[in-house]
Amino acid sequence: MEGKLIWWSPSPSWLMLSTLCLLLCAAQLQTSSATVAAAGTVPIPAGNVVPSAGVKLTSGKDEAMIDNGIIQLTLTNPGGFVRALKYQGVENVLETHEPDDFGGYFDVSWDHPGGEGKTEQVVGTKFTVITETEDQVELSFSSSWAASPKDLVPLNVDKRFIVQKGVSGFYWYVIVERLKGWPDVNMDQHRMVFRPKITMFKYMAVSDEIQKMMPAYKDRETGEKLAYPEAVLLTTAIEPEFKDQVDDKYQYSMEIKDHKLKGWISDDPKIGFWVISPSEEYIAGGPNKPELTCHCGPICLAMFTSVHYSGLDMVTEYRNGEPWKKVFGPVMVYLNSIVPSNDHAALWQDAKAQMEKEVQNWPYNFVASADYLPAAKRGSVSGQLLVDDKVLSPTPKEACTAYVGLALPGTTEVAFQFDVKGYQFWTQTDPKGNFVIKNVIPGDYNLYGWVPGVVGTFKHPDLITIQPGNEVKLGPVTYKAPRNGPTLWEIGIPDRSAAEFFVPDPDPKFVNKFFVDKPNDKYRQYGLWLRYPELYPKSDLVFDIGVSNYSKDWFFAHVLREVKSGDCEPTTWQINFDLPDVCPTGNYTLQLALAGALETNTFVYVNDLNAKAPAFATERVGKDNAIARHGIHGIYWFFSACLPSNLFVKGKNSIFLRAARSGDFPFMGVMYDYIRLEAPPTQP
Ligand SMILES: *[C@@H]1O[C@H](CO)[C@@H](O)[C@H](O)[C@H]1NC(C)=O
Ligand SMILES: *[C@@H]1O[C@H](CO)[C@@H](O)[C@H](O)[C@H]1NC(C)=O
Repeated sequence: MEGKLIWWSPSPSWLMLSTLCLLLCAAQLQTSSATVAAAGTVPIPAGNVVPSAGVKLTSGKDEAMIDNGIIQLTLTNPGGFVRALKYQGVENVLETHEPDDFGGYFDVSWDHPGGEGKTEQVVGTKFTVITETEDQVELSFSSSWAASPKDLVPLNVDKRFIVQKGVSGFYWYVIVERLKGWPDVNMDQHRMVFRPKITMFKYMAVSDEIQKMMPAYKDRETGEKLAYPEAVLLTTAIEPEFKDQVDDKYQYSMEIKDHKLKGWISDDPKIGFWVISPSEEYIAGGPNKPELTCHCGPICLAMFTSVHYSGLDMVTEYRNGEPWKKVFGPVMVYLNSIVPSNDHAALWQDAKAQMEKEVQNWPYNFVASADYLPAAKRGSVSGQLLVDDKVLSPTPKEACTAYVGLALPGTTEVAFQFDVKGYQFWTQTDPKGNFVIKNVIPGDYNLYGWVPGVVGTFKHPDLITIQPGNEVKLGPVTYKAPRNGPTLWEIGIPDRSAAEFFVPDPDPKFVNKFFVDKPNDKYRQYGLWLRYPELYPKSDLVFDIGVSNYSKDWFFAHVLREVKSGDCEPTTWQINFDLPDVCPTGNYTLQLALAGALETNTFVYVNDLNAKAPAFATERVGKDNAIARHGIHGIYWFFSACLPSNLFVKGKNSIFLRAARSGDFPFMGVMYDYIRLEAPPTQP
């Protein structure tokens, strides 16, 4: 694995990106050539309640057009690409440059194991009208792998579009299927891509806090590539406000649980373009996986599976003819335009209200495919999560705001983090630890969970079988948290993130001004790993228990030190502490939780850094690359290190942590979530 890192080899997602860039920039701006019937353009009030005409379908030789009097969606036929989206008198709010690029498409990055990676925009070969009434039109653009002479991703794909009466937007879902016996395949990524019109959409909004004017894609092209091609210093910029700033799509990533609404706003005319993901059930990796949202282009994504912030650990691999079927979506594309209050905040608030409505309506009752299950065909599970940690409380304590979820059965507690094949259903517990997970697709699952403030991950020992219309009542379930003895000291908060540690200011040369003065988003700045050797030029970080403060004295990422260009060495951090006594028998325990890692072994030494072998070593774990991708965490790893008492002495002791690898890049290493030293259980 060494040397072959997912983001550094020309990965399919890269190739895709660079192709896209070329196409975006080479193409002339033009409006779609789609011939469209003039639809009445009425100003749309908030909440898209509009007295409107019925839905009309017109299908021609190479396109199908659905019009509901509010929007008009033109799809290529039978390809199933979004050719044009007409709204408020604008013929196409999307950027479409045929024959190579469309305003909206579904693509898969894949390879034959050991083969060359590629990104395939899936092309439909068969057009079917599924539903056609006054109230709703649903269209299918499908392709059959076995029927194709070309070397295409071994999947049958059915792209389904739905337009409803009175709704200011459309729904899109994709069914992918491979049959038993089909060839081996690796798939890095499944997603929908939307390309709002370059000349219109300049303001991006991905959360309540992260909303801003964005540089032009052209600025990236004229800029200077930094440590990797996605990070660009904008040395020239069409809008002077962006000059000499860093742009990188990874700066705008959000956890999947916060992925429900994102989009772009045009100021002239004032229009909002939004992608709403009402559920996380079809997105791989669990609620806390960071994922891309929108970025300079303008681009807006609906991600389903990816290797972002996880690396090769999250490739969808199929071997030995294993079959698969999954429904991605529906995702809603929502358009708004509010008269007379036309500010960004009003459009965002209206889109947010729409998102909340979609979440309420989930699962939808208007989806025609039998592969998408309505509420009546789903089941649920309920229970109460308790935490057993004798040091926190003598009796099990209710797990407040814990994340609890069903995912495919796995061999480890953290298996859900890597699951790309199944559906996942997550919720958070109430203050009493109660949870109900509703609308679960029938099947066999494991129940997983984690509790903010408590180390480790919960996995219920039993297989949980969900049946249609049934609620599985688990009652109280207890998470036995890792604990061998009383706490001697701890560093950080067990919450799967390094946010509580010291995050430095960026180098003034590499700033994204938007994140300056936003303390919670400081970690999104480029190049913070380069601050470590500046802060610790000669010797590494030393942390004195009882004196040092982890908010100020514990660097958020344990990175390497570049000794000469392209040649990085391990760094070793030192934790000093006093032991008034050493328990002569028994073992001490170092609970070591990582918020992220990149191909790194963490070595633990006690008092003797020159010992022949470390007292404990993690395996080489992690491919998440979260440090370079301006993440505050990637994949969670947890280790309990057993440290025999004869390693400790009365008085001053030191534990050394070494990010034990060398490599090409200083952003390799680990991010700690939380570290705790426990005395042996027998200590009086
Ligand atoms: C640690 O530092 C932070 C940030 O300066 C501060 O808010 C906090 O009070 C300090 N904690 C202690 C225990 O001194
Ligand atoms: C300490 O750990 C070692 C190695 O895991 C184990 O063999 C031994 O039994 C432990 N000692 C006690 C007292 O638990």
